[in-house]
Amino acid sequence: MNNIYTVILGAGEGTRMKSRLPKILHKVAGKELISHVVDCIAGINSKRTFVVIGKGSDLVKTYLAKYKNVDTVLQKERLGSGHALLQVKNKAKGLKGNLLVMCGDTPLVKKDTVKKLLSYHLKNKNHATVLSGTVENPFGYGRIVRDTNGNVSCIVEEKSATSEQKQIKEINSGIYCFNLETLWNALSKVKPDNNKKEYYLTDVIAILNETGYKTDAVSVCSEEEILGVNDRLQLATAADILRGRKIEELMADGVTIVDPYSTYIEGDVIIGQDTVIQPNTFIEGKVKLGSDCIIGPNTVLSDSNIANNVVIRYSYVDGAKIENNVKIGPFAHIRPGTVLKEKVKVGNFSEIKKSVIDENSKVNHLSYIGDAVVGKNVNIGAGTITCNYDGKNKHQTILEDEVFVGSNVNLVAPVTIKKRVVIGAGSTITKNVEPGKLAIARARQIVINRKKRI
Ligand code: UD1
Ligand code: CA
Repeated sequence: MNNIYTVILGAGEGTRMKSRLPKILHKVAGKELISHVVDCIAGINSKRTFVVIGKGSDLVKTYLAKYKNVDTVLQKERLGSGHALLQVKNKAKGLKGNLLVMCGDTPLVKKDTVKKLLSYHLKNKNHATVLSGTVENPFGYGRIVRDTNGNVSCIVEEKSATSEQKQIKEINSGIYCFNLETLWNALSKVKPDNNKKEYYLTDVIAILNETGYKTDAVSVCSEEEILGVNDRLQLATAADILRGRKIEELMADGVTIVDPYSTYIEGDVIIGQDTVIQPNTFIEGKVKLGSDCIIGPNTVLSDSNIANNVVIRYSYVDGAKIENNVKIGPFAHIRPGTVLKEKVKVGNFSEIKKSVIDENSKVNHLSYIGDAVVGKNVNIGAGTITCNYDGKNKHQTILEDEVFVGSNVNLVAPVTIKKRVVIGAGSTITKNVEPGKLAIARARQIVINRKKRI
C-alpha cells in the first residue's frame, strides 16, 4: 500500500516573527512560505494534503483555497507539534499508506530530497523515518539520539537535552514519513511532560521504538535545505539562498547576470539564452523573457511576457506583452494591459497604459498614452497626451497606421485619427480626423508691434 498523504504543520504561533500576519503567509523570494512547501510536494503524487492552521486561520484558509488538493485543519489551541498532527486524525480516518509530515516554515527543502526520504522509507518498510541533517551548529534543533548499534532511539529537544546530547550534530529537520497504520496510536500516547508542557511530535519516535516498530533517520540533504524560518533574520537568510539558487540556475542555462548581488529574480521567471541582466534589476512574478535581450540597469519587470532581442533600460514594465526587437527606456513606465508589437520604441519619460501599439511605431519622449489603439509606423511627438479620463469614465483614442502626431498634442478621447493624418504641434484634438488630412487645432499666432522700451 504505497499511497502517500501529506500533512503540513503550520499552526505554530510564530512568536519570534513579531508579526500580525500568520508566519506561513510571510513571503520569501516573492512567494508565501506555505506555497514553497506546497509546491515542493507537487511532484510526489500525494493523494491529499492537510495543512494544520492556527493563528490567523481565516486568512490562511482563504489563501489556500486556490489549491484544489489541499484541506485545512484547525488546531484551536497551540499545544505542540504532536498535538497539531493529532488534529488531522479524524479527517484521515480510514486512509491507508504513508504520511509525509512537513513544516510550513521550511521553504528551502528540495523536491528531490523529499523523494529520497520517501523512497528510503518505503524501501526499508519503516514505521517512521526522520529526515535528519548534520549541522555545524545544532543549537535549537531536536537531536537524533542513536544507540550503540547506530539505531535511532529517540529525538531530544534542545531544552530537554543533557550537555552530552547537546554535542550531537545530527538534527531533526522536522520532516518525517510515517506508516499510517501505527502512527495514530503512537501519537495518542505522547504526553506533554517537558518544560514547555507541549505535546512533542518528536516523542513518537521513542514510543514507536518501545513498541517494537522500526524507526530510522536518514540524512539526504544539505544543511541549508532544512533551515526553518522562525524570525525575520532567518526569513532574509532563506530569501538570500533562494535568490542565489535561481540566479545560479539561470546562469547555468546561458543567461548573463552581470552583478548577481544586486539582481533579484523570483522563482517562476523564465529567461532565454544570451539575455543579459544588468545590475539592480528586479524580475518578479510570472515573467517570461526571451533570448538576446538586454535588461537594466535599474529595471523592474513584473508579470510580463517579453520576446527576443528586446532592450529595456532604467524602466518599469508591469503586466505587458512586449514583442521582438522592442526598445524601452530609459525611464519609461509600461503599465498593465499594454501590448508593444515588433520594433516599437518607447523612450524617455513616457507612460503607456492598457494600449496596443503596432509595429514600428514610436513614443519617444514625455508622453502619456492610455486606453489607445495605435497603428503601424505611427510617430507620436514629444509631450503627446491622450486625455482618456473625463472624471467618470475612460475613453479610447485610435490612431491608425502612419499617423504623425506633432509635439505637445492633446488627444481628447473618444477620438479616432484615420490613416496618414498629420496633426500639427500644440493641437488639442477633440474631433475625428479623416484619412490623409492635416489637423491643426491651436490659436493662430499673432505678432504685435510694441513700443520701444524706455
Ligand atoms: C521542531 C522540532 C525539532 C526540529 C525543528 C526543525 C518539535 C517538538 N521539534 O522544533 O525537533 O529540529 O522543528 O525545524 O516538533 N506547530 C503547530 N502547532 C503547534 C506547534 C507547532 O502546528 O502547536 C507547527 C509549527 O507551525 C511548525 C512545526 O509545527 O511548522 C514545528 O514547530 P516549531 O515551534 O517551529 O518547532 P521548533 O522549535 O522549530
Ligand atoms: Ca520551526
